[in-house]
Amino acid sequence: IIFMETVKEDNLQEFLLTLPSEKNWDGTPLLLFNETWYPANSIRGAVSFQQNFRAQDSDIILASMPKSGTTWLKALTFSVVSRDRYSPKESPLITAPPHELVPFLEVDLYLKSQNPDLDFPPPRILSCHTHYTSLPQSIRDSNCKIVYVCRNPLDQAVSDFVFVRNRVSGIANPSSSSSSSSLIDEGFENICRGVQSYGPFWNNVLSYWKASLERPDKVLFLKYEDLKEDIILNLKRLAEFLGFPFTEEEEKEGVIEEISRLCSFDNLKDLEVNKNGVRPSGMRNSAFFRKGETGDWGNHLSPSMAERFWKIVEEKLDGSGLTF
Ligand code: A3P
Repeated sequence: IIFMETVKEDNLQEFLLTLPSEKNWDGTPLLLFNETWYPANSIRGAVSFQQNFRAQDSDIILASMPKSGTTWLKALTFSVVSRDRYSPKESPLITAPPHELVPFLEVDLYLKSQNPDLDFPPPRILSCHTHYTSLPQSIRDSNCKIVYVCRNPLDQAVSDFVFVRNRVSGIANPSSSSSSSSLIDEGFENICRGVQSYGPFWNNVLSYWKASLERPDKVLFLKYEDLKEDIILNLKRLAEFLGFPFTEEEEKEGVIEEISRLCSFDNLKDLEVNKNGVRPSGMRNSAFFRKGETGDWGNHLSPSMAERFWKIVEEKLDGSGLTF
């Protein structure tokens, strides 16, 4: 690991030019730094985050590989933590996208400024895609909490492919046109080598998986599929872990069910702000709500592609105890 503190702003550009580079699904460059493939257009934000962020003990950091359920986790965490301030009917989630309420450290905050305004009332809820091993030391050293969400890597890859392609070309369904299916083939070669935004997948998930085993009070490791299967149980786990457990009274009043409904895919997707709103980057909020299902990879990848990728993933995760 190269500590970011050693890379100063004035020689950053020069330093970035020395990094190995590969192409993302859409042809945009990814740069390899500290065993992570960063999108070239946001690596400055990632570096600045690692250099300059100072965690507070009350912070909540939501971490993930892109397209693993980050938007959902943001909505759930925001709702759990702010439920004494807003009832689900008055939730800011009704008029603001989850990504505005819980900004990305690398992209929304530190890409724009080396010293962004982080002066919001505690607990600050922030998110990142950076691997655990590359997080700013103060996150690892402080008592702040980290919640990680991961997802079946085949669903994650398909979701990422559609997201990245839509960003440039508006293609809605990658397997419906031959040119995009050849693109998915090409991109698939890359992910088999771990070349994808904030990948390799296995390094990203394993870094948090190991941390969650070593420090279960610090890192909560969640799976998208488990959230889909039993959101109530997982909301309780999340609330307890964050130090905001639901009271018996709240349970009886159905508060957990209300939060789960508020944050559900169907509810969020149909809100005006998420249907027609646009992020400051120009990205449509609707891009973060596609199908919200498990197993969609079967509609986009051939069985042989899936088998090949599973073999690689299984090998990489072997002995860790983490399975999908
Ligand atoms: P699909 O592309 O498979 O539909 P991220 O939030 O990390 O960018 O991940 C996006 C994926 O999560 C997309 O998956 C999106 O549809 C799904 N998603 C977004 N909000 C969700 C929610 N409230 N519940 C379940 N899935 C959700």
